[in-house]
Amino acid sequence: MPTVFITGANRGIGLELARQYAHDGWTVIATCRNTLSPGPIATISGDIRVYGLDVTDFRQVDRLAAELAQTPIDLLINNAGVYGDRNYGHDGIDYADWEQSFRVNTLAPLKIASTFLPHVAAGEGRMIATVSSVLASIAESSPNSASYAYRTSKAALNMAMHVFAEEVRPQGVTVILLHPGWVRTDMGGAGAAIDAETSAAGIRRVLNGAGMAESGRFFAYDGREIPW
Ligand SMILES: NC(=O)c1ccc[n+]([C@@H]2O[C@H](COP(=O)([O-])OP(=O)(O)OC[C@H]3O[C@@H](n4cnc5c(N)ncnc54)[C@H](OP(=O)(O)O)[C@@H]3O)[C@@H](O)[C@H]2O)c1
Repeated sequence: MPTVFITGANRGIGLELARQYAHDGWTVIATCRNTLSPGPIATISGDIRVYGLDVTDFRQVDRLAAELAQTPIDLLINNAGVYGDRNYGHDGIDYADWEQSFRVNTLAPLKIASTFLPHVAAGEGRMIATVSSVLASIAESSPNSASYAYRTSKAALNMAMHVFAEEVRPQGVTVILLHPGWVRTDMGGAGAAIDAETSAAGIRRVLNGAGMAESGRFFAYDGREIPW
């Protein structure tokens, strides 16, 4: 069975993706920051292997890649993310938080995609998916809530992965950007439109149907392509 590698797998959408892939018999490499109390990920049945990974700690990324050097990865999902500063308006910005949002949402996914590229190239699925947000779309999202840190870090993520997709195309690796929907998680809140189960099932459907023709493009969990 194929192997999926997921960051931020201890709660929210990452946890549900892990649960669904494990249920279907995949080997799941579930990474999370706190392996001492990983929470529900430890109770999922199936072939789940939990590893510690703070995505912003690039030495940890390198160490984990070395530890998994002999493990082909069919699908790598950069899921971990932070919303960051929820202050509205230009005059209330927490710039340190904005920098941290860039580390988590922009720099880390590219670092992980780059470092684990050999593992993905060695797999059969050869796919790297990254969870972005429709709030990063200049064409589509309404600027009614500022969220500077989140929107800009995800918009920059989109460009980084768009460029990366072309760079790795010759290796036959497909790179997909995803909007998971507005999802009832700690980040999305209790009033969000869909549950994590629906989001993860949709994401899996989109990835299942994606290939090189879709590489470097941005899709919602329901299959709709999102304009930049
Ligand atoms: N929920 C939505 O409506 C929505 C909409 C659009 C896009 N998204 C995106 O979907 C993805 C998952 O979001 P979610 O709703 O599931 O959020 P969530 O419930 O807040 O979970 C976020 C996950 O990211 C992990 N994470 C944060 N910083 C990390 C770091 N430095 N190293 C490792 N893991 C880290 C968290 O781990 P800890 O438990 O250790 O903090 C947690 O597992 C994110 O990329 C988010 O931007 C969500």
